[in-house]
Amino acid sequence: MGTKILGTGVYLPEGILTNQDLENLVETSDEWITTRTGIKERRIAKEENVVDMARQASLQAIKEAGVDLQSIEVIIVGTLTPEKRFPSTGCLLQAELGIKRGYAFDISAACSGFLYALELADGLIKSGKARLILVVGTELLSEIVDWSDRSTCVLFGDGAGAVLLGWSEEESDILASRMYSEGSLWDLLYAEKNGCIKMKGRELFKVAVRNMEEACRNVIEKAGVSIKDIDLVIPHQANVRIINSLAEKLGISKDKVFINIDKYGNTSAASIPIALHEALKEGRIKRGDLILFTAMGGGLTWGATLLKY
Ligand code: ACO
Repeated sequence: MGTKILGTGVYLPEGILTNQDLENLVETSDEWITTRTGIKERRIAKEENVVDMARQASLQAIKEAGVDLQSIEVIIVGTLTPEKRFPSTGCLLQAELGIKRGYAFDISAACSGFLYALELADGLIKSGKARLILVVGTELLSEIVDWSDRSTCVLFGDGAGAVLLGWSEEESDILASRMYSEGSLWDLLYAEKNGCIKMKGRELFKVAVRNMEEACRNVIEKAGVSIKDIDLVIPHQANVRIINSLAEKLGISKDKVFINIDKYGNTSAASIPIALHEALKEGRIKRGDLILFTAMGGGLTWGATLLKY
C-alpha cells in the first residue's frame, strides 16, 4: 500500500527575460551569469498571478491523472510568494478550481516547499487520512526580486508545477524521505515583510552542497539502495555549479542529473515539479526507475525524497 504519482503538470509564463535583457538592467554579462549559475533565461509573469499559474499546472496534472477534481481531498501549496497574507494560496487555488470539499493550506519552506509538501501528502496517504492529494509549487519570484541588485536579480524566475498523488494498494512510489531545517541560519536567505530577496550567496553555496549531500545519503541508506542504483537525480535548480558539486560528492555521473536551470532559473518551490514533468515528457524516466529529489532553501530548509516511479 502506498502513494502513487498519478499526474504532473506545469505552467510557465510566456514572457522570457534573457541574460542579454539583464545586461540592460544591471552591470552584468551573459558570460558571468552563464558560467557562475548556468542560467541563460527565465520566465517572467505579466498578467498571471501565483494562483493562476498554480491553477493551470494543477488542471494539467488532474487531466493527466484522469480523476474527477471533486474527488481531491487535500491541496498543499508550497510557495514563498503567496497571493495574500491570508487566506492561503491553497484556499484561493481550491476556489479557482471550483473544488467544494476537503481542505487546502500552504507550506512556507522556500525552495524546499515542494519536498515538504510531498512529505506531508505522503504521510496523509500512507496513514489512511486521504486518498487523493494535489501538491503544487508555485512562485511569482519576479515580484520580490530587487531588480537593481545584480547579485540576486539574475537568479530567479516565475512558474508553477503540480503533482497529483493517490492512494494505491500497490507498492509506494515514494520509498524514503527526510526533511531538515536549521532556523538559526535564516539570515543567509530571506525576504522581510513586503521586502525583496536578500541572500548571502557564497556562504549559502557551501551549505547547500553539504546539506543536500547529507539528505541524499540519508534517504538512500534508509531505502536500502545504493548510489549506483539511482537512475536520475532531480535537484532543486538554484545554481548549476551547486548541482555539479553535489553530483561529484555523491559520485553520480552528470548524465544522471536533470538540469533545466538554463531555461527557467531558480523557481523555488516550483523547480522540482517542473523538472519532474519535463523529465517524464522527455522520456528520461521509465517505469521502475529510482528517482532522487533534493532541495535546499531559505529557512534554512532542506531534504531529499527517493521515488521508485
Ligand atoms: N554580474 C556580474 N558580477 C556579479 C554579479 C552579476 N550578476 N553578481 C555578483 N557579481 C560579482 C560580485 O560583486 C563579486 O565581485 P567582487 O569579487 O568584485 O566582490 C563577484 O561577482 C563574485 O561574487 P560571488 O557572490 O562570490 O559569486 P559566486 O561565484 O558565489 O556566485 C551566486 C554568486 C551565483 C549567488 C552563488 O553564490 C550561488 O548560487 N549561491 C547559492 C544560491 C542558493 O543556493 N540559493 C538557495 C536556494 S534559493 C531559495 O531558497 C529561494
